[in-house]
Amino acid sequence: TKHLLSSADLTRTDVEAILATAASMHDVQRREVKKLPTLRGRTIINFFFEDSTRTRSSFEIAGKWMSADTINLSAKGSSTSKGESLRDSVQTINAMAVDALVIRHNQSGACQQVAGWVDASVINAGDGTHEHPTQALLDAYTLRSRVGQLDGRHVAIVGDLTHSRVFRSNVITLASLGARVTVVAPPTLMPAGMRDWADRDGFATSWDLDEVLDDDTPDAVMMLRVQRERMSGGYFPTAREYTVGYGLTRPRLARLLDRKPEAVVMHPGPMNRGLEISADAAESGASIILDQVSGGLAVRMAVLYHLLAGEETAA
Ligand code: CP
Repeated sequence: TKHLLSSADLTRTDVEAILATAASMHDVQRREVKKLPTLRGRTIINFFFEDSTRTRSSFEIAGKWMSADTINLSAKGSSTSKGESLRDSVQTINAMAVDALVIRHNQSGACQQVAGWVDASVINAGDGTHEHPTQALLDAYTLRSRVGQLDGRHVAIVGDLTHSRVFRSNVITLASLGARVTVVAPPTLMPAGMRDWADRDGFATSWDLDEVLDDDTPDAVMMLRVQRERMSGGYFPTAREYTVGYGLTRPRLARLLDRKPEAVVMHPGPMNRGLEISADAAESGASIILDQVSGGLAVRMAVLYHLLAGEETAA
């Protein structure tokens, strides 16, 4: 395929191939091999209309470690700040004969729209509340590195589902790898029509985190960030109520590990420490949060490889 716009673009075979390539990138990641020539002569533009630490830097490093020419642009500092439209901006960059545009945007569907305007490959690095497919791939990669095959494994995704593109991509990729998923949130942070959606796509829903931890203890608990910047109309429940009901507090972490000592804790980052996750949980031996960051680099190398490495440049 030319683009990666949604996790639904990938079959299980595609996901398995990307995860296998990511695993083979480890020598580069350990710096035993300094650089691969794989993408020499390719140009990748990371165009981020919304802020990022992990995704932007890992795409940039991934491109550089595979010898691509990589450039970063953000809304601030580009002509977007002068009022240039998304279409004019991306077509301007496309006219410089670039091979890939890695796009983050605060509007759902923006990457799909861009793909219709340019010749370059478009990679969705997070679009509004829609999807974040490379996050789901890196989550699957990291989880598999820790727990093995995901068939039949139970993953609880907990938190602000309404605003979460990470959740939307993860339910697709985890299901394709055979995992069972339960999503947990207060009713006010569940998207409309959630029950029908869950029935259709084969995941479970709950408003009660403790019940899920007790009755069907997950192999992995993925905590989501409460996205206060997307909550224009107020913040419900209150921060205190949220932490009491849905935070991975120290007692709740103990409850999880009492029932399943090998369970792991995940968070895509950035974290609101003390709100959805306690420092104890983030820094416990069960946490694989920084492994997710390392895995993200390997997975983004793999995605760039699969989309851009033609026969003439493949390592
Ligand atoms: N998880 C994630 O997308 O983080 P950044 O916003 O820092 O890229």
